[in-house]
Amino acid sequence: MFGLEKIVNKVEIPPSEVDADLAVPAFNLDKNKILEEIKALNNPLFKEIKIAGPYINIKFDIEILAPKIIGQINKEGEKFGFNEDGKDKKIMIEYSGPNIAKPMHMGHARNNALGHALVNIYKANGYEVITTNHLGDWGMSLAKIMLAYQKWGDEKKLDSEPIKHLLDLYIRITKEVEINKELENEARVLFKKFEDGDKELRSLWQKFRDISVTDVKRVYDMLGIDFDLWHGESFYEPMINEVIQEALDKKVATQETEGPVVINLDQFNIPSYLLRKSDGSSLYSARDLAVGKWRLQNYNPDKILYVVGHEQELYLKQIFKTLGLMGYPEEKFEHISYGMVTLDGKKIATRSGNIVFLEDGLKEAIKRAKDNKEVGIGAVIFNMLHQGREKDIAFSWDAVLNLQGNSAPYIQYGYVRAFSILEKANFKFQISNFKFTNLNSSESRLIKMFAYYPEIIRQAKKLNAPHIIATFLNNFVQEFNRFYTNNPVISAENKEIKNSRLLLTKSVAQVIKNGLWLLGIQVPEKM
Ligand code: ARG
Repeated sequence: MFGLEKIVNKVEIPPSEVDADLAVPAFNLDKNKILEEIKALNNPLFKEIKIAGPYINIKFDIEILAPKIIGQINKEGEKFGFNEDGKDKKIMIEYSGPNIAKPMHMGHARNNALGHALVNIYKANGYEVITTNHLGDWGMSLAKIMLAYQKWGDEKKLDSEPIKHLLDLYIRITKEVEINKELENEARVLFKKFEDGDKELRSLWQKFRDISVTDVKRVYDMLGIDFDLWHGESFYEPMINEVIQEALDKKVATQETEGPVVINLDQFNIPSYLLRKSDGSSLYSARDLAVGKWRLQNYNPDKILYVVGHEQELYLKQIFKTLGLMGYPEEKFEHISYGMVTLDGKKIATRSGNIVFLEDGLKEAIKRAKDNKEVGIGAVIFNMLHQGREKDIAFSWDAVLNLQGNSAPYIQYGYVRAFSILEKANFKFQISNFKFTNLNSSESRLIKMFAYYPEIIRQAKKLNAPHIIATFLNNFVQEFNRFYTNNPVISAENKEIKNSRLLLTKSVAQVIKNGLWLLGIQVPEKM
């Protein structure tokens, strides 16, 4: 709405100690020229434009801004803050990707929350978004579970408590493998037989996969998540030989007679890795080459984001680099990395038993939120998003449900307050021709924050950083609480002030709702 995007590609919201409302960084640029260009916009919203060090600082004319922005919020409603930057652009986002036969745990909450928020953020920036859930439905770990089922499985248990039974089998076989190395070989033989198409194993696999998909869908429903594509690793399995051959033909991969297929990335200072072992069995990495190629060829997205934990950073670097060497556009692939979620200071791991399953965690959160679903689930999601994604999160219930700030309940409570004021006032006021005069500082600050919100959505997209929205919402609700404590709304001194404050309050409710939606969080009407 400022028109500045035509002149510069970055606008900053200055910190509170700076006496300006917008700051345009112009470090190595011609400041006078930019100053003139901004002035030439003749934007009536800008009351003052001046050079301040390496910045061009701008101050708003609040009396012009207020009716304009409030009018816009009321007109655009749920779409307020959206932009068209991504028009005609397509982005594919891979996230979640749980390994089948194991229930998701609290660590997956972070991936799911991050992926879902990015999906919404890109949509708000005008992109077409395709989502894909890259299920881990192939490989040795699954072979071990199948082996365990053959040895100790119980059909009745598989029917009555399917996912629990599979988990028990997984835990048992990982323990037994440690004392009996022979089991590892048995699993390898089984995997080979399975890959070669053994009917019985294939149907067992199908059963495990169906059980897992049903299980994860129940949790996705709680989180309000869905995917366009459910292709797991298995989907790409038939494409592997071709892609390995392609890598060999293009001299990106090498193979000595009967040896493994190797990708050498020494010259890029990236460790070399294998696509196929000498026994002929396929590897995770070979599947990922097929994945990248398939995604490009079938969707031709402008970008493909891989929301995957930071442990796989080097691995994805290897994959993207290899695809680049094979002639595919490497720059389209981007790893959206994130840190670990710890419980009691320790890494979550299915094997060690230091684990809270995601479904149990969400149910517990709902219970702690006095059976309020939006609050309980929102609390977990927000907790996973409010810090920069590279940082680790030490999960704690106190932080998740903290009513003093930095939590979904704190922000949702701001919404509920605003909502109840509007209900009490039976507010149906129309915006047309309404004037805002003599706004006090608290009201002005809220107006400015409304104006910042669309910019926040752009920044969150630019940096793939939902925490920017979370931080904004937290500050925004803080500001609203201050406003509301010091400025009577329903009992304001006259009708004009009352109405302008009601309009402000209505706009606050809308922005909170919109902002939480971006993070994948719902607003409750009561708390
Ligand atoms: N299933 C994988 C895991 O649990 C995550 C998927 C990673 N994505 C990929 N394209 N390799 O670690």
